[in-house]
Amino acid sequence: MDPNSSGLQQRLAEAGQSHLVQFWKELSPEGQADLARELQAMDVQEINGFFKSAMETSSSSRHEKMDARMEPVPREVLGSVTRDRDSLKDWDAAGLQCISQSKVAALLLAGGQGTRLGFSYPKGMYDVGLPSHKTLFQMQAERILKLQQLAEQKHKVKCCIPWYIMTSGRTMESTKDFFSQHNYFGLDKDSVVFFQQGMLPAMDYTGKIILESKGKLSMAPDGNGGLYRALGNQGIIDDMQKRGIEFIHVYCVDNILVKVADPAFVGFCVQKGADCGAKVVEKNNPTEAVGVVCKVDGRYQVVEYSEITLATAEKRSSDGRLMFNAGNVANHFFSFSFLRDVVQKHEPQLQHHVAQKKIPYVDAQGQLIKPDKPNGIKMEKFVFDIFQFAKTFVVYEVLREDEFSPLKNADTQDGKDTPTTARHALMSLHHRWVLNAGGHFIDENGRRVPAIPRDGAAGSVTADGNRNLKDGTDLPIKCEISPLVSYGGEGLEELVKGREFHPTLVIDEHGVKELVKNGV
Ligand code: UTP
Repeated sequence: MDPNSSGLQQRLAEAGQSHLVQFWKELSPEGQADLARELQAMDVQEINGFFKSAMETSSSSRHEKMDARMEPVPREVLGSVTRDRDSLKDWDAAGLQCISQSKVAALLLAGGQGTRLGFSYPKGMYDVGLPSHKTLFQMQAERILKLQQLAEQKHKVKCCIPWYIMTSGRTMESTKDFFSQHNYFGLDKDSVVFFQQGMLPAMDYTGKIILESKGKLSMAPDGNGGLYRALGNQGIIDDMQKRGIEFIHVYCVDNILVKVADPAFVGFCVQKGADCGAKVVEKNNPTEAVGVVCKVDGRYQVVEYSEITLATAEKRSSDGRLMFNAGNVANHFFSFSFLRDVVQKHEPQLQHHVAQKKIPYVDAQGQLIKPDKPNGIKMEKFVFDIFQFAKTFVVYEVLREDEFSPLKNADTQDGKDTPTTARHALMSLHHRWVLNAGGHFIDENGRRVPAIPRDGAAGSVTADGNRNLKDGTDLPIKCEISPLVSYGGEGLEELVKGREFHPTLVIDEHGVKELVKNGV
């Protein structure tokens, strides 16, 4: 196809993007066809508009600090697993009832590129090195299976938690293949629905789309807030409606501890009549780079650490906790009607955020350049950008060590959010489940391992509340419990009460195994 005759050239010229076909004559016929297809499918004027408004918003907000406009989350919209212990059972029961009525769906955000981890497959396929070698996808699938089973046992009806999985152009095929190779991990194939978010080109600071090679644009997914556009244009809202879904739990692929479709969280939100809810963990160090959920000019939003002064980040309430401590973990509840309204009415109002990046590009001579400082931007929407539209917004605070340990970076000696920290967080949680259910661990000398680790042997707790694993003295007890046996620590008494175990302990659907003792 000739870009001249197809009108493409003119469209590009009108949009100031003619450079995209500057190497046209050098491309093979297939290369020309690929580039033409990519450009034909793209609304360049719309992209120029995104660039313009994203840059305007970003430059007007860059120097403005939010401090004076912020208020912390008021107690009346807050539920806490530690401070509202008495209500937890009720919330859990309410959520499980909704699950038993097949009104709850799980929605996984798995369209990211996982650049920092540097794994060439979708992050959900990552094995952090647990005794079972389960991947993140498998653990999440098994949590869904277990939850369906718990709801069915309690309410004596068959139920289904549909699982919507958002991928990107880059991760769709490999994600689908992985699920099909693993027989959907035992889930009903029809209740696992894949859909694809949009992609946007990287742009230089003058608004020109960047070419990553002579015939290829530099494209990236449009952020986890690309969810809302994709839900509409991929028919997912209609699918949810057909299935009678009323509540949706949205979460990220990289949190190894995620309680998928968490009944207590769902129940809390439903009992509060919320249309939108955010699960948070306590931010306990003022300089931790985590966004906090708060009110700005009377509306809820997430404020990034960089948007406030240190003085505000350090402010404390009378109980000694940070005043702005609702650390956002991208784990949300939406009512179906709220989500539908967002998709159908509000989505176009959402602005793209600007991330300055080092973006490899071909220059006018066709040379590939790898810049050593940022040379352009990627545009992304965020999943939490829609809090502002909620009429009844609630916040649900959970314990970080029980529910949040994201996998972001590759392993390094004292790295944060690595495969090692994720593996340790899961094993440490499962260790605690065994102790709570009345089981004990014994060391190689036959002595009971104290439930509260001794000073020194336990390593220290870092300022952001994570255990310091640097010196290797704080290796957790090796213990893994299959989600098929326990979703959140329940049902373990009959397996462990009054018993002593040598690590590595593995409890799965085949029974209770001590791997070292048996020489495995
Ligand atoms: P991150 O922002 O941590 O990005 O995503 P990432 O892709 O996992 O890792 P880096 O930054 O490239 O190293 C948080 C969550 O949002 C999803 C991710 O899959 C992850 O679950 N996400 C991110 C999307 O679904 N789409 C996107 O465009 C970006």
